[in-house]
Parts: sequence; structure tokens; C-alpha cells
Amino acid sequence: MTEIDVPRVVAHRGSSAAKAEHTLGAYELALQEGADGLECDIRLTRDGQLVCMHDRTIDRTSTGTGVVSEMTLDELKQFDYGKPGEPAEILTLRELLELAMDWTSVPVKLFIETKHPVRYGGLVEAKLLAELSRFGLATPASASFSRVVVMSFAASAMWRIRRSAPLMPTVLLGETSRYLGGAAAHTVGATAIGPSIMTLREHGDLVDRAAAAGRATYCWTVDEPRDVELCRELGVGWVATNHPGRTKLQLVTA
Ligand code: G3P
Ligand code: CA
Repeated sequence: MTEIDVPRVVAHRGSSAAKAEHTLGAYELALQEGADGLECDIRLTRDGQLVCMHDRTIDRTSTGTGVVSEMTLDELKQFDYGKPGEPAEILTLRELLELAMDWTSVPVKLFIETKHPVRYGGLVEAKLLAELSRFGLATPASASFSRVVVMSFAASAMWRIRRSAPLMPTVLLGETSRYLGGAAAHTVGATAIGPSIMTLREHGDLVDRAAAAGRATYCWTVDEPRDVELCRELGVGWVATNHPGRTKLQLVTA
């Protein structure tokens, strides 16, 4: 991730400024807009399915209410996850993987963030690797050739992935420069650090410090053009944005 001149663009929850987040339409648009990567959050349903969902509940993003992990996939499918006038179904990780693997124009990377790592510690990562293995993605030949990158704010989740899939690239997400500049990324063998743009505005030196340790930087969520420029100047490898089309255009034309 460090060998490139301009950051590569990751569609955060799909092209989520234009389309409802984590829906098939949001990811299809991101691919059409030239995104280099797709970001998604995954949660377990009550019947052990992995769905693309940020929140603990479906209240904000659907016509229903309830806790994802207390509902079956069939129950979750009863609700609409689209924007007004654009109905959309809940998206499973399997469906997202099918879309990404079918997209042959450019080999996009999938940045998969595991949620609820404490309550379901171990189970989410095991399910994720099982799902990835269906597509031949669980055991990459090397980190740089992997089509998947696994991310978490929880060092314990990163450690579990490292133990089960040693060559799987990982991003240790964090909110502070103290944490991301400390020993945690090294301890869990993360291949990249994932600071927020707020952190990088104050602590741009994190990028060089990570690079010196052989780690790339993935920055979220970079929606302002001046922040995209900052990431380019700092040498950030990947920027996650809700505006992948606009961001890609900015980076290839400037
Ligand atoms: O891409 C990382 C970023 O998504 C982490 O924050 O809350 O949007 O999952 P969140
Ligand atoms: Ca996320």
C-alpha cells in the first residue's frame, strides 16, 4: 500500500452519499465510479449469517426496528433498507463478495470491518474466514495480493485474524495517535494503521512513522477535498470516503 503516489479510493459503506449505505446499489455505483476498494461493516444475525450493517440495530437504516444479532436473516429481510423511492434489501456479506468477484474491470479490494468483537469474540472472525474460503479468499498467497483486508478497532479481533490467517492483511483502526503510534499495531501484526481524518489533521507524522515500521495508512472518512489533498501530501495509501467518484476524479486530475 505504500508504493503508490496517490491514495487509492475506498467506497465507505459503498457510494453512500448518493445511495443508501451498505446496499447493493451503493456498491454497484461505487464500482461504476472507479473505486479501488469497497468498505463494509459486518454483523452476525441470530441464525449465524453475516450481513453488511454498521449499527447494532436496524432502526436508523431501515423501515424496521430491532437488534441485528437478535433477528434471523429472514426477519431482517422483511424491511426496506433503501432511501425514499429507492427500495433496497439487506445485503449479506456473501452477496457483496459475489458482486466484487464478478467485477472484472479492476480487481477491487474489500475492506471488511468486523463489529461486535467482544460479545461475539472469535465467532465473527471464524464465520468471516469460512465465508471468504467459499470464494478462495481466506488464504492469500501474500498480503499485497489479497483481495480482502480485515479491519477492526479491537486489537483482539486483529490478533485472532493473524493467528487463523497469517497472511491476511489487516488494518488496526483507532481514534488516537497515542494508540496507533504505540505498540498495538506491532503486537497484533497489523499491516496498516487506520486513523480518522481528525487524527491525521493533528498528527500527520503517524503516516511516516507507520511507513518506517513497514505499515501503510488507511484513513477514514475523507469527504472534504482539502482532506483528500492532505492525505495525498502525507502519503496515505488508502482513503475511505462516502464520495468515491468525486474523490477519484480529484486524485486523477489534480
Ligand atoms: O473505515 C473505517 C470506519 O468505517 C470506521 O468507523 O464507525 O464508520 O465503522 P465506522
Ligand atoms: Ca466501518
